[in-house]
Amino acid sequence: MAVQMAPSILSADFARLADEAAAVAAVADWLHVDVMDYHFVPNLTIGLPVVEALLKHTALPLDCHLMISEPDRWAAGYAEAGARNVTVHAEALQSPVRTLRLIRAAGARAGLAVNPATAVEPYEDLLPEVDMLLLMTVEPGFGGQSFLDIVLPKLRRARAMVQRHGGSVWLQVDGGVGDDTIQRCADAGADVFVAGSAVYGSDNPAAAVQALRRQAEQATGRAAWRH
Ligand code: DX5
Ligand code: ZN
Repeated sequence: MAVQMAPSILSADFARLADEAAAVAAVADWLHVDVMDYHFVPNLTIGLPVVEALLKHTALPLDCHLMISEPDRWAAGYAEAGARNVTVHAEALQSPVRTLRLIRAAGARAGLAVNPATAVEPYEDLLPEVDMLLLMTVEPGFGGQSFLDIVLPKLRRARAMVQRHGGSVWLQVDGGVGDDTIQRCADAGADVFVAGSAVYGSDNPAAAVQALRRQAEQATGRAAWRH
């Protein structure tokens, strides 16, 4: 499977979201949208109305990462609106199977996210219900934080787990991913890369995405899990 690049608009200019999406439209695979509610994480960003507006202004598939309480209640709405991927946090779900199925039934891909301190092994039996596992490589809530190397062993275990189940589930990393960390992530098993400050903190966001993709592809080509 090919490397997927998902720039995060958390580090973009929120007053110019359509332009910021356009800046990476030719080189990104998805646009990562961080939804935060002041409850699940200590930050507040954007919700469904902004996602609906953005959908009208970009052809990039939206990768909605819901860092909210009660995702069981709100997730399907993002799928119904037209998000391509909807990712919900294991720590906040009450009924994971029902909610993941609702996301898929509404036409989106279903993602399951875990925080740095949350194990992935308890979710192995849920793999048939998900299209992507998101391993947070920072505590969720803010862009620009330092990458947590302690997540790398879990990423290797998650890759082995996914491969045992046929290898079709994407493994996404989010948080502190940049040119000094992306190769380690690819080597450990990630194939979907979210990058916020490394892309939108750059003078040339498109060139930053392309440079990160090259690094990820090179590391993936060498990675033991691919052979
Ligand atoms: C953080 C968000 C990330 C954020 C990453 O909670 O989930 O998507 O945009 O930002 P960087 O890449 O700057 O760490
Ligand atoms: Zn995110």
